[in-house]
Amino acid sequence: MINRAIELIRKSKKPVIFTGAGMSRESGMRTFRGEDGLWKKYSPEKLSSISGLKADPEAVWNWYRMRLMTAKGVVPHAGYRALTHLQSVKGHLPVITQNVDGLHRLAGQTDVLEIHGSMRTASCMDKCGFSTELTSEIQKNSLPVCPDCGAILRPDIVLFGEALPAEIISRSYELAENCDLLIVIGTSVQVWPAAGIPFAALENRATIIEINPVQTELPHSDNVISIRRKAGEILPLLAGLKEKI
Ligand code: APR
Repeated sequence: MINRAIELIRKSKKPVIFTGAGMSRESGMRTFRGEDGLWKKYSPEKLSSISGLKADPEAVWNWYRMRLMTAKGVVPHAGYRALTHLQSVKGHLPVITQNVDGLHRLAGQTDVLEIHGSMRTASCMDKCGFSTELTSEIQKNSLPVCPDCGAILRPDIVLFGEALPAEIISRSYELAENCDLLIVIGTSVQVWPAAGIPFAALENRATIIEINPVQTELPHSDNVISIRRKAGEILPLLAGLKEKI
C-alpha cells in the first residue's frame, strides 16, 4: 500500500493536499474530535460559533487566547517539512487546510487556502475595515476593541453558523475537481462544506491517499488508499525523504 502511494505521488501531475487538525497533532496542537479532542471538554456552540461570540465575547476571547498560547512557539513537524519538499519536487502543491494555526505557511508552503480562516489575525466585529495581527499586546485585553470605531474585535476564524469565504471555498472545490491526486491528512471529514472536498475529488476520478490513524467517513474503494499512520511519521517516507520507517 505504501509503495503504491509513493508511486502515485511520483507519477501525479496535479496533486493537492487537504488537511485537518490531525496534521498539527505532532506539533503539539490538539484535535477537536477523537481521543482527547477539544470538543469533549469545551462547547463549540459557546466558544466557536457566531451566536456564542455575540452572547459572551469574553468567553470566546479566553478560548482563543488559550489556543494562541498553545500555538505560541509551536513548530511544523517533519510531516510539514516533507510537504515543503514535495512542493519543490512538483513545482506547485496547493494546500487546502481547515487549520487556523498557520503551520503550513510557516513550513514554507506557498499556495495555502485557509478555508476556516486564521487565528493569527483579528478584525472589527462591525466590519469597519480594521484588522490586525493578533499581537501579545492585543491578547492582553480581556476583550480587545477596535481602535477605529470602538466595536469589539473578533478572531479571523470562520465560526460555526458563518459562511466560509466564498472565493476560497470555490477555488478549493475547483482544485479538488481537477486534481489527479488528493492527499487527505488528519481530518475526520465531518464538517461541511470542507468535508465535501475529498468526495468532489473522487467524483472526478482522482485518487485519494488518506493519512489518519483512525478510520473516517471516506469510503473503502480502489481509489482510496487509507494509510493508518501518523502524518509526521509517514509523510517523510511518502515524499522520498526517508528510506524506511
Ligand atoms: N496524524 C494524522 N491524523 C491524525 C493524527 C496524526 N498524528 N492525530 C489525530 N489524527 C486524526 C484523528 O484521527 C481525526 O480523524 O485527525 C483527525 C482530526 O479530526 P478533527 O479533530 O475532527 O479535526 P478536523 O477534521 O480538522 O475538524 C474540522 O471542525 O471544529 C471544527 O473548525 C474546526 O476545522 C475544524 C473542523
